[in-house]
Amino acid sequence: MIALTINGKAQEFDVDPATPILWVIREQAGLTGTKYGCGIAVCGACTVHLNGMPIRSCVTPVQAAAGQEITTIEGLGNAVTGLHPVQLAWIAEQVPQCGYCQSGQIMAAVALLSSNPSPSDADIDTAMSGNVCRCGTYPRIRKGIRTAAATMAATREASSGDLNNG
Ligand code: FES
Repeated sequence: MIALTINGKAQEFDVDPATPILWVIREQAGLTGTKYGCGIAVCGACTVHLNGMPIRSCVTPVQAAAGQEITTIEGLGNAVTGLHPVQLAWIAEQVPQCGYCQSGQIMAAVALLSSNPSPSDADIDTAMSGNVCRCGTYPRIRKGIRTAAATMAATREASSGDLNNG
């Protein structure tokens, strides 16, 4: 048995420890927002977070995540809990085309904004260079990240104002 916390929910999986995390997420946990792309850690469609850091779930064995926290696109936010600012920016900027790569793109964008809240275009291009989009939505991905960065900065400013005034 391998214990994982996925999107805040502690679970145990009876699985070969060498199984890529992607298949545990999709087939055992039933979370199909994370996609299988190339299967060799090149395209980024399978990006999830392990303890907040982006990883390629198609090549990372589940034993490497034992006892740790995985976040998938479903765990960022949803219609019930409210969407993450990056998800909202993706809607506002109409980023996806076919959509297949986009959960990986969003997970990579969230990781970028966690480590660099105000990225330049060059920072965005570097951070997102491992996430391939066959539809060529790169200009809109950049726009979505800029929009999310602005929203998140405004929220931080508003909450620091609240703290200062409280
Ligand atoms: Fe189609 Fe990126 S939106 S592959």
